[in-house]
Amino acid sequence: MTGTKKSIHGQWSSRFAFILAATGSAVGLGNIWKFPYITGENGGGAFVIVYLLCVLLIGIPIMMAETMLGRRSRQNPINTMITLSDEAGADKNWHYLGWMGVIAGFLILSYYSVIAGWASAYVLKAFTGSFFDADASEIKGLFDGLIASPIQLIFWHSLFMLATMSIVAHGVKTGIEKAVRFLMPSLFVMLILLVAYAMTTGSYDQGIEFLFTPDFSKLTGDSVLTAMGHAFFTLSIGMGAIMIYGSYLPKDVSISKTVFLIAGTDTVVALLAGIAIFPIVFASGLEPAAGPGLIFQTLPIAFGNMTGGWLFGLLFFVMLVFAALSSSISLIEPAVAWLVENRDMSRKQACIWSGSITWLLGFGTVFSFNVWSGFKVFDRTIFQLLDYLTANLLLPIGGFCIAVFAGWIMTQQHTEHELGMPNPLSYQVWKILICYVAPAAVFLIFLHVVGVL
Ligand code: TRP
Repeated sequence: MTGTKKSIHGQWSSRFAFILAATGSAVGLGNIWKFPYITGENGGGAFVIVYLLCVLLIGIPIMMAETMLGRRSRQNPINTMITLSDEAGADKNWHYLGWMGVIAGFLILSYYSVIAGWASAYVLKAFTGSFFDADASEIKGLFDGLIASPIQLIFWHSLFMLATMSIVAHGVKTGIEKAVRFLMPSLFVMLILLVAYAMTTGSYDQGIEFLFTPDFSKLTGDSVLTAMGHAFFTLSIGMGAIMIYGSYLPKDVSISKTVFLIAGTDTVVALLAGIAIFPIVFASGLEPAAGPGLIFQTLPIAFGNMTGGWLFGLLFFVMLVFAALSSSISLIEPAVAWLVENRDMSRKQACIWSGSITWLLGFGTVFSFNVWSGFKVFDRTIFQLLDYLTANLLLPIGGFCIAVFAGWIMTQQHTEHELGMPNPLSYQVWKILICYVAPAAVFLIFLHVVGVL
């Protein structure tokens, strides 16, 4: 490898800029599209509790660790792992962790972009009034029509990839700050509005009960793995996205407080999305386990039937696309930063390369919804395989390694200094979580799924 130490690394203008970017990365399709549909598929309340526990006990400590690694080394994730493991005199195999993250980023973005394409297609549908007065079956027809068409999916996927790569080409630090500052509050308002609509459906209580009354008999080993995997996915941790954002973070910022704020916001957004969607699901006689189409088959019903629904529907899908963009750029930024810093490419060249690879990979997901829908490996379509491989396996494995590295390989002096905890007790709590609780939980859940436990 040549020039590993070349540093062209910038910095966020402030703590607030980092919070905006990291929140932008965390809040995305994971909260609004994925959380409701996997909650529906996994039986509701008990799944939600496991997810919340995973965020608190595994996600937050690892998010702090990942941010800390990035900030300490101030380089892209691949070089970060090289520098920090050399600094600690650790095994060279730690170098692979950065690579694994970059690969996970490509794979996730390849399907993330296709789904973000659906959201983009819905901007147009909202604009042309397709939801007006429509009932549940008409709305379902719209969705089925979209995913049956490879041409349409490729068109929207291409558009979304182009948008992502143009933002990344200009440098994530310039554009994103303004976009997220306006986006997050607006998305919040929209979700509150949808919750208000959900209250008028007559099935609000049923929706809330589904989400918050746990029935642990519905929980399988795989549901627990999915809940844990989603904690990683929704917080954007385990592959280096938060690491690279941390690498742009000024030295004097308290990582712990910042991470709590971001994870808290992310969780609230997901819960609000769930509270808005399930009452509509029950009121319209839909299946909670309808799968990845869930929000596209429910929310348009709300927009088609509420006053001002044309405008709100349009705004909602526009914001969903922006939320997806502020996430997608963080999936590819580690790879782009590595190409620029280690391979002497311009940012533009790096974007063309990495963007083209991801775009091509995305075709697998596009076709898995139509022409290749019968092609299954381990009983899963390509989209389902990619999702399982990344969210349920690669991210938890990456997170496990980050926890072990931060807890056992780095010195206490370094971690304590970097985290800047308000008091020694909170540092001790983090240390216990990162050394024992988080790695053990990931490990036990894996054992359980493969049937050893
Ligand atoms: N967290 C984002 C979401 O919920 C997706 C995402 C962005 C992500 N960057 C990531 C997931 C890094 C895993 C790793 O939509």
